[in-house]
Amino acid sequence: MHALVTGGAGFIGSHLCDRLLSMGYRVTAIDNLHLGKMQNIAHLASNSAFAFQLIDMLDAEAMEALFKTDRPDCVFHLAANSDIAAGNDDASLDLKLNQLTTTTLLDIMRRHDVKRLFFASTSAVFGEADGRIHEDFGPLQPISFYGASKLAAEAYLSVYAHSFGIRTLVLRFPNVIGERSTHGAIYDFIRKLKDDPTRLPVLGNGRQTKPYLYVGDLVDAILFAWDRSEGNYAVFHAAGIGETSVRDMAEIVVSKVSPAATIEYGSSDRGWLGDVPRFSYDTGRLEQLGWVPKRTSTEAVEYAVERILTNGF
Ligand SMILES: NC(=O)c1ccc[n+]([C@@H]2O[C@H](COP(=O)([O-])OP(=O)(O)OC[C@H]3O[C@@H](n4cnc5c(N)ncnc54)[C@H](O)[C@@H]3O)[C@@H](O)[C@H]2O)c1
Repeated sequence: MHALVTGGAGFIGSHLCDRLLSMGYRVTAIDNLHLGKMQNIAHLASNSAFAFQLIDMLDAEAMEALFKTDRPDCVFHLAANSDIAAGNDDASLDLKLNQLTTTTLLDIMRRHDVKRLFFASTSAVFGEADGRIHEDFGPLQPISFYGASKLAAEAYLSVYAHSFGIRTLVLRFPNVIGERSTHGAIYDFIRKLKDDPTRLPVLGNGRQTKPYLYVGDLVDAILFAWDRSEGNYAVFHAAGIGETSVRDMAEIVVSKVSPAATIEYGSSDRGWLGDVPRFSYDTGRLEQLGWVPKRTSTEAVEYAVERILTNGF
């Protein structure tokens, strides 16, 4: 199998490349290095089953040339703007990097008869939904351009799946953590404590409570669903078990990085515009297929912090 991984130099994409290669796939990764880093894939440079191309997915000609010469059997589409706050500052960012990358890709897959696709979606499509969010929850009312653009991308995926036969797996996951991440609370906390080991200012009151998933466990979930999902268009959720508050996360990071630091909380119930203060995620559909989350959300936080402190970002 020859897989194309878009966003392959990014946080999750580079971990997915590692795993696909270890499973015997030939992998082509593309990335425009918007947030991705060559150092995430530097260890793969000598692997003859791996190739990287610096391509902006909005460059339809470059994408066309890639599909003509590289002829992938399947695509794992992870390229996106993953920074929700940056997307709210510039509404064109999510439109271009999340929605238009997807429609450009779908059009080229259709013309080149590539029939299998994975799409990295997000819990942000649900906005501030109350209660436990299951896979068929609705109405979907995103509160960030990021969530809106991913939802729009899902709508296009549905059309290409149902009308043009591109078999599509959509996995909606919440906060993913681990080494090679480019942003997020753990990243932010460790950076701040390295800069000033005496204090940790936290965005918001720290009572935001969400499920976290370690990146390696997410890759397990992607490939588990990839092997077992049926039908032309399948939507699944993946998350760690339970939720973790930002306060718990701050205490875990402080205890491991700088135990004497004072944690200073803000007053808002959210860290930034588009932040969802509290949600709980139902992963029942994937569990019905036999998937078992490896860690609780809080175990994932502890594990990710240890991995980052050992291996660096
Ligand atoms: N990290 C999370 O918590 C999380 C949660 C839910 C969904 N996701 C989704 O998972 C995917 C991977 O996220 P991540 O955390 O690894 O983020 P990331 O920013 O590390 O990876 C995204 C990659 O896409 C690349 N990219 C962006 N625009 C591109 C373009 N036009 N052409 C080519 N490459 C482009 C970036 O340079 C980056 O390397 C994204 O689709 C994201 O929306 C992430």
